[in-house]
Amino acid sequence: MNAELRDTFGRLHDNLRISVTDRCNIRCFYCMPERDVEYAARDAILSYEEIERFVRIAVKLGVTKVRVTGGEPLVRKGVAELVRKLAAIPEIQDLALTTNGVLLPQLAEPLYQAGLRRINVHLDTLDRERFTRITRRDELDRVLEGLALVKRLGFGPIKINAVAVKDLVEPDLVPLARFGRENGFEIRFIEFMPLDAQGIWDRSRVLTAGEIIETLSREVAPLIEIPDRDPRAPATEYRYSDGGGAIGFIASVSRPFCQNCNRIRLTADGNLRYCLFALEETDVKGLLRGGASDDEIAALIRATVQAKWEGHEINSARFVPPPRPMYAIGG
Ligand code: 5AD
Ligand code: SF4
Repeated sequence: MNAELRDTFGRLHDNLRISVTDRCNIRCFYCMPERDVEYAARDAILSYEEIERFVRIAVKLGVTKVRVTGGEPLVRKGVAELVRKLAAIPEIQDLALTTNGVLLPQLAEPLYQAGLRRINVHLDTLDRERFTRITRRDELDRVLEGLALVKRLGFGPIKINAVAVKDLVEPDLVPLARFGRENGFEIRFIEFMPLDAQGIWDRSRVLTAGEIIETLSREVAPLIEIPDRDPRAPATEYRYSDGGGAIGFIASVSRPFCQNCNRIRLTADGNLRYCLFALEETDVKGLLRGGASDDEIAALIRATVQAKWEGHEINSARFVPPPRPMYAIGG
């Protein structure tokens, strides 16, 4: 068996993102609606055993990087147990988790003990009032407490994801960048993408990497691009010329990186996607629950990668946003 997942454009897929729930305990406006969120039925969500089985098949096909996401993964009961199962899979070289941080004060320690080291915490602002406006929940203190705790416990690298929305986050750029430099957190600005539940995305609301680099270079310290640290990672990395750390940009809109994409995504309800923006997906749950063999599931993973398109077309008039918003896909 050929142990690699290569698509028709020659891209190697070794990176699997697993959403363990579509639920969330905050309501970031660029992701979720404010109320009446439609969640998947509980019995539609893959069990940890089903997820583990899928991952054990995927690693035989060359997957070496796994990220646990949501929704908010820490709202799912027992998530540290899943992390423990995944950390025990020898082929996984890189295990990470993305969280909004609200539950880290309770869960950071169990996650560390389960073997997790790499963590991305989603945080757009250090200002309580602005945090509450963006997330519609007053949880900044718990996120900051969680960040301090993961640092104390020795997680690393610790990254902070901030979504770059124009005419909104400009006042937060410099404080966040300084906060990152002072604490050794790598900030990554993610350009606002058309994945929100309420259809509010518009090109004019994207704060681009270029604009952020200009602001930070002027107000914090000049930024220098780090050439090709990992050419297949979506983030473009910069470092401060004064040695004050690194910063990343996920410039999906202004500098699409589809030609390097190495990712597939398993949704919480058991569908496999070859792209965040994919309009089609493959039902894996049916096989997992229908008595399929590992080989049949492997064939389905291969077929999904084979069907992968060249890339999203956010910058074309043909672009159609995907039917699922971010929380239902998994970031
Ligand atoms: N555009 C860009 N990034 C988003 N995220 C959520 N919604 C959007 C969006 N519309 C990011 C959050 C989260 C990650 C999984 O996805 O920063 O950390
Ligand atoms: Fe929750 Fe993450 Fe969506 Fe914010 S971006 S509402 S934290 S799932």
